[in-house]
Amino acid sequence: MKNIGMLLSGRGSNFEAIAKNVAERRIPDARIAIVISNKHETAGIETARRLGLESLVIPSKGMQREEHDRAVAAELKKRNVDLVCLAGYMRLLSPWFVQQFPRRILNIHPSLLPAFPGLEAQQQAFAYGVKVSGCSVHFVDEELDHGPIIVQRAVNVQDGDDEHTLAARILDQEHIAYTEAINVVLEGNFQIVGRRLVRK
Ligand code: GAR
Repeated sequence: MKNIGMLLSGRGSNFEAIAKNVAERRIPDARIAIVISNKHETAGIETARRLGLESLVIPSKGMQREEHDRAVAAELKKRNVDLVCLAGYMRLLSPWFVQQFPRRILNIHPSLLPAFPGLEAQQQAFAYGVKVSGCSVHFVDEELDHGPIIVQRAVNVQDGDDEHTLAARILDQEHIAYTEAINVVLEGNFQIVGRRLVRK
């Protein structure tokens, strides 16, 4: 049984989709061991409570980056977390944190990386006028939105779209992509060649 630790900062829809797929065994032999938010009163933490999952708020406001990361890592390690999933965790991780969980931290980003890293990626893509966008699940390394890509799913931009309708269709694909990526990583039948994840 693999232990997943979820880190989030807000709505928590990716977390909820993963929790559903864990419960329905579409992510087999795994459990969500802990849900941690760096912000108070998030919908994500409410969802964790509703689902009966253990959750914690470790507020990051006013804390040094690494000091906060040490508090979070301690809680993850206490629960023997095998995989750390960032799901709308809107805080940069320190190199120290990344080194605690080598190749065991995943992030989802709402664009086809390396296009549009950073905040409000869907809006950036829409404003740029791309015809295809999507989402990426990748390993976290010391750089923002940068580590090797595990899964990407593309979404066509339609003439009638605005940034909200596009973001909503990307989100639907995020909920599929994250589970696919977790299964790839937990199954472990891959190697990383340069930046490329290659299935064995
Ligand atoms: C998602 O769209 C996720 O891809 C994005 O935040 C949203 C969180 O939604 N993450 C980033 O932009 C990270 N750079 P959720 O809380 O409903 O899962």
